[in-house]
Amino acid sequence: KNIAVFASGSGSNFQAIIDAVKSGKLHVNIKLLVCDKPGAFAVERANTENIPRFVFTAKNYNSKVEYEEDILRHLKNNEVDFIVLAGYMRLIGSTLLGEYEGRIINIHPSLLPAFPGKDAIGQAIDAKVKVSGVTVHYVDAGMDTGPIIAQKAVELSDDENIESLQEKIHRVEHELYPAVIEKLLS
Ligand code: GRF
Repeated sequence: KNIAVFASGSGSNFQAIIDAVKSGKLHVNIKLLVCDKPGAFAVERANTENIPRFVFTAKNYNSKVEYEEDILRHLKNNEVDFIVLAGYMRLIGSTLLGEYEGRIINIHPSLLPAFPGKDAIGQAIDAKVKVSGVTVHYVDAGMDTGPIIAQKAVELSDDENIESLQEKIHRVEHELYPAVIEKLLS
């Protein structure tokens, strides 16, 4: 299967997917990185790995429909079957859902439906929960609302802070996401 990864930031999950392919644990072709932040480290990772990328700036388009049409063109040119969101900070609109709904997944740093949206890790710290975690889910038009595919819990210590929880969650994500993709696609 041909996948595209969408990212807006560091892209450590993107890297975990790349590494899982390289080590033979994940059997997909990473055809394209889609990124809405020209300066994101994810773009450098794609360069290093010689993965084609489509980098865009949303405000250079008149609407979400227009930039998603541009994304769609790149997906089709690269024969992408499946979309993996990895820290992509935009809601997927009707243009992409129309073509790919049921074939788009996301990873979110909480046990959904708890703490949807931005800063799920900060929300968990503020709520003083003892357990949070990671969710992989299908993407629909809502914010972190699609059907859940897999979840893994992470325990919080009494002195947990945003940085320490983020590190714990990333460690779980980097194992879980490639494993879920492999299960779904091969
Ligand atoms: C991850 O924690 C993911 O759950 C969330 O965004 C973060 C992306 O991190 N959706 P990275 O860019 O993969 O390092």
